[in-house]
Amino acid sequence: MVTFLQKVKQLFLLTIIFTCIILSIIFIHKNPLNLSILNLAKFTKNTDSKYPSSFVWKLTAYPENISYCNFNYGLPEKLTFNESDLSFSPESEKPGKYRVLYDVIRNKHTPEVPEVTYATHVTADFTSYVAEIARVWEGPISVAAFTPQTDLILTLNIINQLCYCLPEMTRVSLHLIFPEENVPRENLVIAKPKNCLVPNSEKLETIRSSNRSVKYPINVCRNVARVASSTKYVLVSDIQLIPSDFLASKFIHMLEKHRKPLNSMTKVVFVIPVFEVESTVDIPGNKSTLLHLLKTERAVYFHRYVCSHCQKFPGIERWLESNNREEITPFLTVKREIPYQRWEPIYIGTHSEPLYNENLSWEGLQDKMLQMLEMCLLEYKFLILDNAFLVHWPGIKRKKTYEEFWRTDAQIENSIQYKKTLKKFLNKFRSKSKCQLK
Ligand SMILES: *[C@@H]1O[C@H](CO)[C@@H](O)[C@H](O)[C@H]1NC(C)=O
Ligand SMILES: *[C@@H]1O[C@H](CO)[C@@H](O)[C@H](O)[C@H]1NC(C)=O
Ligand SMILES: *[C@@H]1O[C@H](CO)[C@@H](O)[C@H](O)[C@H]1NC(C)=O
Ligand SMILES: *[C@@H]1O[C@H](CO)[C@@H](O)[C@H](O)[C@H]1NC(C)=O
Ligand SMILES: *[C@@H]1O[C@H](CO)[C@@H](O)[C@H](O)[C@H]1NC(C)=O
Repeated sequence: MVTFLQKVKQLFLLTIIFTCIILSIIFIHKNPLNLSILNLAKFTKNTDSKYPSSFVWKLTAYPENISYCNFNYGLPEKLTFNESDLSFSPESEKPGKYRVLYDVIRNKHTPEVPEVTYATHVTADFTSYVAEIARVWEGPISVAAFTPQTDLILTLNIINQLCYCLPEMTRVSLHLIFPEENVPRENLVIAKPKNCLVPNSEKLETIRSSNRSVKYPINVCRNVARVASSTKYVLVSDIQLIPSDFLASKFIHMLEKHRKPLNSMTKVVFVIPVFEVESTVDIPGNKSTLLHLLKTERAVYFHRYVCSHCQKFPGIERWLESNNREEITPFLTVKREIPYQRWEPIYIGTHSEPLYNENLSWEGLQDKMLQMLEMCLLEYKFLILDNAFLVHWPGIKRKKTYEEFWRTDAQIENSIQYKKTLKKFLNKFRSKSKCQLK
């Protein structure tokens, strides 16, 4: 009798426990609220560890639900254009491997904006860096985006979301570069952004990550971004290079202050030194903060460990010792001759410098070298600026990646192009041994 009652009790308890387990499993799986809370927690943590554009999360969308950007071609709802809207690439100016759609967004030009453009290039996975440039660069920004196949929609979605949330996007222009074989022929519909939670674009899978034969035409993009700039002065830069505070307005001020000596110089460009900092520190905005990081070994000149000659600029030791002043000043003028024949400075120039060779791909490396060589042959002067600098997005690259076998084909193509162009240069210019033409 007793044992029977005990058994019933046990069975009853077991049934209750079992039902509870089943119910809780159903509840966790079925309840979307629970899931979204989990996801959100994961995302919120990400904003603490900084990633490009994560600061936009704290912003709220444009109050009237409209965009800060000046869209064309039916955007931001859908992209519609016809053949006559497309251009050839700037250097070839004839049918080639790429087509350009200029001014998909055209910046709103206001007179108080400093007249120097930050011109840059992106692939879909670098799109969220546009926000980081827009928040520190006071001048216009010209972005050339390489958008093969489905990369187009990824890029436009992120840009549209930034346009919806970040007032500084009014200064941004956007141009699209398509491989000739996949110019979109159908109208493309873009979703309206719901919030300012811009995803980390570096996590995106681009076409190039699945198909190595799609090469990044980095110099087509650089040329497009430069020729589309409406100001006389242009800084052609890589988008991970963040300018020091007030660089654009201080540069214009420097030009005015030193007008006389500068007017007497021809073929001159203004070099902005580049540094990199540890991933644990904030990007320095002024020279005293930068110098402090350098002294405590949390900053080095760009690519110090992977390509010591690429960015080590003439007079660097003295530059690092000179006193920090508020204003940008001319520091030292040099030519890019031996021993600086492998130097690849980033500079503010005009529209009259040689274009970048569009047959060189990013995968093949050394994509700026031919332009540099041509500028050496043209006897350009490189005026290095003091109290102005660029900082690579945090993280110091300490080791060369040796086994990048996927680059081999592209490197061969680039070196063939390099040799062809050297031949052209030998015919065009009298050989200048100082530029190491070989
Ligand atoms: C903006 O759009 C969102 C989503 O479409 C909507 O929920 C919100 O009410 C709109 N806000 C205003 C001020 O119109
Ligand atoms: C192409 O579009 C432009 C405006 O974007 C328009 O002026 C032109 O007529 C169009 N051409 C054709 C053939 O549809
Ligand atoms: C990869 O890209 C090339 C060049 O656009 C194309 O010819 C090829 O069909 C692509 N391969 C795949 C698997 O999509
Ligand atoms: C330099 O930047 C630091 C950090 O943002 C700031 O505390 C300091 O006041 C700045 N110095 C000058 C001279 O602007
Ligand atoms: C790039 O390659 C194409 C095709 O091989 C050639 O016609 C063109 O002249 C090259 N461009 C330059 C700048 O060398």
